[in-house]
Amino acid sequence: MKAALIAPLAACVALALGAATSSPAYANEALAKDKCGKCHEMEKKKKGPPYKETAAKFRGKADAEATMFKLATDPKGDHPEFTASPDDTKAVIKWILTLK
Ligand code: HEC
Repeated sequence: MKAALIAPLAACVALALGAATSSPAYANEALAKDKCGKCHEMEKKKKGPPYKETAAKFRGKADAEATMFKLATDPKGDHPEFTASPDDTKAVIKWILTLK
């Protein structure tokens, strides 16, 4: 019984640590500048809405990451094309949601 409880817990800790080391915030900010900076900026509207406005709009919503990913990548939406990989796009979206 105890082992059954501890194993998933250990997996969670490992996941949390892995996420923390593989995608530090500064790397995601650089990624955002590189891949999305042509149209998105921190505070000012460029072609697209500023990160902080988007963060405020989606923060706290259960499906925020999935919705934002769809908005950014859905070929039927009106988001312009960009060259970031799905993993990089998700990393930037996670970073946007940490902004205040
Ligand atoms: C060529 C310009 C361009 C690039 C590059 C670009 N975007 Fe956008 N983005 C836009 C425009 C224009 C909109 C607003 C239109 C819309 O709602 O689809 C937008 C909207 C969004 C939205 C919805 C925001 C909201 O508040 O509703 C998200 C999320 C988003 N972009 C993420 C990204 C990410 C992540 C990247 C980089 C991987 C990126 N975008 C790169 C132009 C761009």
